[in-house]
Parts: sequence; structure tokens; C-alpha cells
Amino acid sequence: MSVSADDFRNALSRFPSGVNVVTTKDADGRPHGITVSAFCSVSLAPPLVLICIEKSTVSHDAFADSEVFVVNMLRKSQQHLSEQFAAPAVDKFEDVDFRSGIDGVPVLKQALASIECRLRNAFDGGDHTIYVGEVETISVGEGEPLVYHQGDYRKLES
Ligand SMILES: Cc1cc2nc3c(=O)[nH]c(=O)nc-3n(C[C@H](O)[C@H](O)[C@H](O)COP(=O)(O)O)c2cc1C
Repeated sequence: MSVSADDFRNALSRFPSGVNVVTTKDADGRPHGITVSAFCSVSLAPPLVLICIEKSTVSHDAFADSEVFVVNMLRKSQQHLSEQFAAPAVDKFEDVDFRSGIDGVPVLKQALASIECRLRNAFDGGDHTIYVGEVETISVGEGEPLVYHQGDYRKLES
């Protein structure tokens, strides 16, 4: 039985996720950043995480080329960063406070947590590539995450 794209999106949108800005740099050293909800932990020993990046994005090849990436988890107050990094722009990092992390990849200073990774595997995932990274450095802050659910931004209720 085949599944329509609408049915697929409709079902998957019911799954709530956090929102991240995943950063890397290209072969010329230019920074890239992309809003990503397709992120999860994979393994504790060794510490592995995965992200899924659509093949048609401008940033896609930079992840394979640089062999490093940083997952910056967004806070509930950072919806503007999710929107900024999900839209095409000449300089997505304009007005963004960041420092230099693993191999010079930008780490967003106000992120809820930042996970700096070295690329370990890249797997074909249909119209996406699944990038698996080994975690080298972690920075953690306090606060509430930004959540995405059914096509909209949410905040956790306690
Ligand atoms: C909430 C949200 C979650 C997203 N999750 C992903 C994702 O997991 N993987 C992906 O490739 N694109 C995802 N996108 C879309 C990209 O952020 C968007 O296509 C981006 O503009 C690509 O940037 P680039 O083409 O400049 O590299 C998401 C967008 C939003 C708003």
C-alpha cells in the first residue's frame, strides 16, 4: 500500500520535536546554519547523534565536506532564530551571537544546549542524508526548549 505525501506529513506532524539550528562550514570556510527538527540520540558509548538534512538544501554538501557539525538546541524564546535559519539569506548569521567551536564551526551562544560533533557516517535517507556524528564537546544551559508540533511552535506546559 502506498502512502500519500499529505497522509505522511499529517501523521508525522503529530510527533512533537525540539527545534535546533545545526551549523557547519563549507570547503571555503563559510559558515552554514539550518533549522532542523530531525535530530535524535543514537548511542551512549560511543556518544552518537544523528541529523537528517534534505539533499536540496544549500547547506547539504557542506556537512559532508567539513566533517564537523554543531547541534544548537533552541530555547522557547528563540522562535526568531528558527525562522531566520529556515529561510534563504545571504548571511543567516547576521545579528546572531556566536563563538567558534569545533574546527571553527559556529556555536550559538544563547542556545539551550550545543553539541559539537565530528562526522562518523553519512547514510542515504531518500530525499535526505542521515548524518551521524560522534559528540566531542557539550555546552548546557538552563531553561525551556522551543517545541514544534502540528506545523506550529509550542512551549511546554508544566
Ligand atoms: C521547524 C522546522 C524544522 C525543520 N527541520 C528540518 C530538518 O530536520 N531537515 C532539513 O533538511 N530541513 C528542515 N527544515 C527546513 C530547513 O530549515 C530549510 O529548508 C532551510 O532554509 C535550508 O537552508 P539552506 O537551503 O540555506 O541550507 C526545517 C524547517 C523548520 C521551520
